[in-house]
Amino acid sequence: MKFDTPAGKNPIDQLKVVGKPVDRIDGPLKTTGTATYAYEWHEEIANPAYGYVVGAGIAKGRVASMELDAARKSPGVVAIVTAANAGKLGKGRFNTARLLGGPDIEHYHQALALVVADTFEQARAAAGLVRIAYTRGNGRFDLAHGKDSAIVPEEPNPPDTSVGDFAGAFAGAPVQLDATYATPDQSHSMMEPHASIAAWKDGKLTLWTSNQMIDWSRGDVAKTLGIPKEDVRLVSPYIGGGFGGKLFLRCDALLAALGARAAKRPVKVALQRPLMANNTTHRPATLQRIRIGAGKDGKITAMGHESWSGDLPGGGPEVAVQQTRLLYAGANRMTRTRLAVLDLPEGNAMRAPGEAPGLMALEIAMDEMAAKLGLDPVEFRILNDTQVDPEHPERSFSQRQLNECLRTGARRFGWDRRHATPGKQRDGRWLVGMGVAAGFRNNLTMKSAARVRLDARGVVTVETDMTDIGTGSYTIIGQTAAEMMGVPLDRVVVRLGDSDFPVSAGSGGQWGANSSTAGVYAACMKLREAVAAKLGFNAQEAAFADGRVSVGSRSVPLAQAAEAGDVVAEDAMEFGDLGKKFQQSTFAAHFVEVGVDGDTGESRIRRMLAVCAAGRILNPKSARSQVIGAMTMGIGAALTEELAIDKRLGFFVNHDLAGYEVPVHADVPHQEVIFLDETDPMSSPMKAKGVGELGICGVSAAIANAIHNATGVRVREYPITLDKLLAGLPESS
Ligand code: MOS
Repeated sequence: MKFDTPAGKNPIDQLKVVGKPVDRIDGPLKTTGTATYAYEWHEEIANPAYGYVVGAGIAKGRVASMELDAARKSPGVVAIVTAANAGKLGKGRFNTARLLGGPDIEHYHQALALVVADTFEQARAAAGLVRIAYTRGNGRFDLAHGKDSAIVPEEPNPPDTSVGDFAGAFAGAPVQLDATYATPDQSHSMMEPHASIAAWKDGKLTLWTSNQMIDWSRGDVAKTLGIPKEDVRLVSPYIGGGFGGKLFLRCDALLAALGARAAKRPVKVALQRPLMANNTTHRPATLQRIRIGAGKDGKITAMGHESWSGDLPGGGPEVAVQQTRLLYAGANRMTRTRLAVLDLPEGNAMRAPGEAPGLMALEIAMDEMAAKLGLDPVEFRILNDTQVDPEHPERSFSQRQLNECLRTGARRFGWDRRHATPGKQRDGRWLVGMGVAAGFRNNLTMKSAARVRLDARGVVTVETDMTDIGTGSYTIIGQTAAEMMGVPLDRVVVRLGDSDFPVSAGSGGQWGANSSTAGVYAACMKLREAVAAKLGFNAQEAAFADGRVSVGSRSVPLAQAAEAGDVVAEDAMEFGDLGKKFQQSTFAAHFVEVGVDGDTGESRIRRMLAVCAAGRILNPKSARSQVIGAMTMGIGAALTEELAIDKRLGFFVNHDLAGYEVPVHADVPHQEVIFLDETDPMSSPMKAKGVGELGICGVSAAIANAIHNATGVRVREYPITLDKLLAGLPESS
């Protein structure tokens, strides 16, 4: 099915099942520990061997020698895989560095060997006996330094944007801001590490793995191993978090496959936590310069945003300027994206790449600008709203309710109780402040296919390689099929995450929910036609409700269509150019109240509110869970998360969850989420958009702005740790 004209009325609009806050259908499996994660296929794989990854101990250079004899002789060892014996390997389309390094080393903890043994403990012990001598090369590890020789990246295209006369308008603006912001390297830190089990049979490979994008990664397994894609099967029905770190094939899967080939036996590999920061991908640090010029009336006349980030040779930048092209009005504008070539581990997508770090800078800048203008920060944003793409005014947003988000949020949060002058509100030893920021994330759509089957019991089974990374995909896909076929949710079976199923959009870039359910919609439309034909109905007229198919006074049980055998239909939703004709984005307003200890500078979040406008909300309960989870990530980004770099040796030092601090329950206060009532007929027949990543976009800046309001200290370098506040705290009374 092709989606190229705005959606009209369709069966989803009934909202009998879709739009209801039903519990996650995979919830009982998760809470009873019976959902099978990648490392846990005990029945399928009876006698696996265990692989342990040896990561490079230097960041750049070569392996001079690798002494494997002691490891080989160690008890239980069945194979050791290295670049020297793995055979010729390609590189995946989505990989920057090779997943098995040696003799050349591209980054710290790049995998150099997999030691395979009968037990995990034997593999780990033997891995400790591998002796590697290195020839150290010179690496580049400092973004601030690399910035001066940064290159023009291939993506985004164009790397520079310009409208009107930015320089002239900025120079002539009566009120100006020119400030630079820094966001650090961050690690996904999902709960389930990258993990895979590999088994070969008759030259065909099955990988039970933990992956967000089944088809991308199936292709990259085949490309790296040099075997046909048809000979690779990926199974990934449950995923313990991904956040962008599992969009791609990583070394656990590749090395499990190579290990299993060498050991002639299934091999399981889970990345040990200390390897995850440096072996896998991370969100790269940014330096961002923002210039805003405005008239005394508060209208923005010039908006400029430049961003620098680093990556390995052949990698790409963090597109932190993305939202600045679209978020606010202003006739004269520019953006510029530059890439510093560094030898730190690979930078890539993490938790709303682009907008999340971009808004961490832009939305502080907007707060600073409002202060310079003497305007309330909510009003300043509302004043500079645009309903059209500011670079192409003939192109409007499909829906844009940012102002409604801001107004609703201000009312519900009690924004009128905020002191405009910073440092004026105290609660015992706490300095209390409120902050606001706009949230913005583009809505992407991706082709997505599904197969649906009706059986003689009246059960509808959906199969698609869509993944559920903890997001609720099972449930919204089940709700979609139930709505379309007119059956209750408990008559729907959803099977996901298997490359034997039709290729879906996968989980990334918050495109999963809308795209994958649209694919199920397309398949169900076909199934309705097939069912109607079997029952002798005209598909256009037939109503599917209460487990029956009816036209006029004739009504037949749905299951009757499958009496002589299952009725099966398969289709894909393909998206036309509505995304080009209209700018499709999602919007939020984030409000935060913080307390900062007046003596120690310790920040504590007190309250958070997100008001989101993101099209139809398919399931308010799972959508809320997505947003509060994202808000929690925003707390981490604002206050604690930072990969500390050893700039001499070139690696992330705090490569575990003791040193890399993510928020825990005690850090998370009262959170509230409001979804504005919205449908977007330009996005898909579901009229939905993404919401998961929107939830993080803007949060950290709202926290930074609240801390400024509490203390009067403006920190432009994340995370906002107490050492950055101490010197500027007001005298305690
Ligand atoms: Mo997302 S960072 O595209 O998984």
